Amino acid sequence: MRTVHSLKELRTILRGYRQQGKTIGLVPTMGNLHEGHISLVRKAAEMADVVVTSIFVNPMQFGAGEDLDRYPRTLAEDQEKLSLAGNTLVFAPAAEEIYPEGLAKQTQVVVPDVSDGHCGASRPGHFEGVATVVTMLFNMVQPDFAVFGEKDFQQLAVIRKMVRDLMMPVDVVGAPTVREDDGLAKSSRNGFLTPDERKIAPAIYQTLQATAGKITDGRTDFEALESEAEERLRGAGLRPDYLNIVNSQTLRPATTDDTDLTLLVAVFLGTTRLIDNLSLTR
Ligand code: PAF
Repeated sequence: MRTVHSLKELRTILRGYRQQGKTIGLVPTMGNLHEGHISLVRKAAEMADVVVTSIFVNPMQFGAGEDLDRYPRTLAEDQEKLSLAGNTLVFAPAAEEIYPEGLAKQTQVVVPDVSDGHCGASRPGHFEGVATVVTMLFNMVQPDFAVFGEKDFQQLAVIRKMVRDLMMPVDVVGAPTVREDDGLAKSSRNGFLTPDERKIAPAIYQTLQATAGKITDGRTDFEALESEAEERLRGAGLRPDYLNIVNSQTLRPATTDDTDLTLLVAVFLGTTRLIDNLSLTR
């Protein structure tokens, strides 16, 4: 498995693969890889001849005061995990390679509507940063498909819409969330939790499951259910940012006509912000 840091080298190597008629799968990541990321790489390896994993902590998707500086950079460990998972090529550019003129002068991609609520409301500019860097990665790698985790449910919806609206020739593949034994969704940010916070964190998924259970039992008073769920999170020692019950396609507030619903949640636990979601059909 090779690692390249420059776009020039990436393009030279990928041109060779394309000339040999090989299919290319991309797994965009910010590194600090855990089993969730590795499951995306394994999925890509099942589907493509060549798997490119990008590792880039994208400054454009972090707001002021967010955790850009403390976001873990663990390239050597990541490379080891990737080589065991069937990855072919790691693309790990420096920020100057991606944004040579700096962030302020960078053309941006805006995906309206689906970016607006939930994490988009709490983290202004976040999804513009994601959509911009994913567009650039698609242009740099020109993959046949790219794999993203369903844990970032809104991000996946934003990328799907962007690909559709801009007619990008890339298939977007979603892969299921990987969880710890106690239900906590795997996340690079779990590493920020203190031992006491880690004990509280499973309450996030438990709350999603309990709320989903009430819906499958027939309740449709979604706003009341959201308030009850937020109360339960607070009772467990978490600070909810939001818990929203939405239509799974539009991400707009669920109505009694909707059959495919998703519960989206973001919470603060100490200084760490965690997200999760749970989809259901009723
Ligand atoms: O999900 C992530 O790790 C990031 O948002 C992504 C898609 C790699 C873009 O920086």
